[in-house]
Amino acid sequence: MTATVGVAGAYDRRTEAPVDGRRARSNDRSGARAIRRGSGGDTVSAQLRAGIVGTGFIGETHLGAWTAEGVTTVVYDVDSARADELAGRFGATTASSLGELFEAVDVVDVCTPTHLHAPVAIAAAKAGRHVICEKPMARTAADAEAMLDAAREAGVRLLVGHVVRFFPEYVAARDAVLAGQIGDPGVLRLTRASFRPRQPAGHWFFDHAKSGGIVLDLMIHDLDYARWVAGEVVAVECRSAIVDRPEAGVDHAVAILTHASGAISHVSASWAYAPPTFRTAFEIAGSHGLIEHDSAFTAPVTPYLLASGDGATTTALADTSLNGDPFRHELAEFARAMVDGTPTRTSAQDALATLRLALAADQSAHEGGRVVRLDPAEAVR
Ligand SMILES: NC(=O)c1ccc[n+]([C@@H]2O[C@H](COP(=O)([O-])OP(=O)(O)OC[C@H]3O[C@@H](n4cnc5c(N)ncnc54)[C@H](O)[C@@H]3O)[C@@H](O)[C@H]2O)c1
Repeated sequence: MTATVGVAGAYDRRTEAPVDGRRARSNDRSGARAIRRGSGGDTVSAQLRAGIVGTGFIGETHLGAWTAEGVTTVVYDVDSARADELAGRFGATTASSLGELFEAVDVVDVCTPTHLHAPVAIAAAKAGRHVICEKPMARTAADAEAMLDAAREAGVRLLVGHVVRFFPEYVAARDAVLAGQIGDPGVLRLTRASFRPRQPAGHWFFDHAKSGGIVLDLMIHDLDYARWVAGEVVAVECRSAIVDRPEAGVDHAVAILTHASGAISHVSASWAYAPPTFRTAFEIAGSHGLIEHDSAFTAPVTPYLLASGDGATTTALADTSLNGDPFRHELAEFARAMVDGTPTRTSAQDALATLRLALAADQSAHEGGRVVRLDPAEAVR
């Protein structure tokens, strides 16, 4: 059997209580500041004021999503010219320091380079602000744990943007698996293929100590999805072209995960294509059938342009044209959680477990594909 995956209404059907069970609080015994009510537009998120730190590629994507939600936005970037330009385009306000941004907002949205997620998120929590952070949660597990501790101590919410959980095809496929449509999932095959980010030499992206390379930056999307569908992972082995051949101009990594259930996931992430390619695909096979998706077949329009190398952006995003913008769905769900404690489909503990898996895969790649074992008990700590 091959199941056809419907996408309509996929967003509202699957939410999970946060692992820590905490709800957003106003200015009670926690350090979190009360969120102003009824000050914005029609949506729940419009009751918030959001401050974006880092106005690069993904900061701009988030600013577009917050703006569409009617949220009042403030932006801060060490590159003040970039912040001013973006603020001007979206009607946001610019803060001249992190402290000024914290003063002006209810939630801080961390869109800085990966190695700077932790210091910004911790400072925001200490200032009593709820925190949303881009994936990966942090560059190291110790940094991510420090973020969790800071949020707990301050009594603020901390949520991490694993946006694949908000793509309708991915949500619908997981719904079908949880509904038992394919029986017990046995084999997953997850693919994410794009071009190498076109940033200048010396950019943080190409410094493994800052970005974590292709595994922490790109493959982590599908590592998180594999956990979401098939549960915790007990062992991972991974190979990466650029680790094996540092002089290679492209990168391509493949990981095999063994889940505690016995299911296997084959996860591949590629920066070996020409711009503007961004292709995603999955197959989930179970005891009664198979679910598959390939963006190459479902994209409304697929351009193959000879001159595309010059016009494409620095980084690629998966196509967001089906059923709305997943970043907007993600930020709206996170905003609701912060305003009234509505459960979210992911939590910071979940993001930490995914980060541990990505770090293990990266370690395996650096050790020639050695199998690295994980302790599933750590995932829920
Ligand atoms: N969810 C996704 O699909 C997705 C896509 C792309 C990037 N990301 C993640 O978003 C993060 C940022 O990536 P990007 O592509 O936007 O990077 P980028 O280099 O385009 O932007 C980073 C911005 O942060 C600014 N910055 C650096 N240090 C700062 C500081 N101390 N305070 C304030 N601003 C600072 C830089 O000036 C720059 O404008 C990364 O963690 C990346 O993994 C996620």
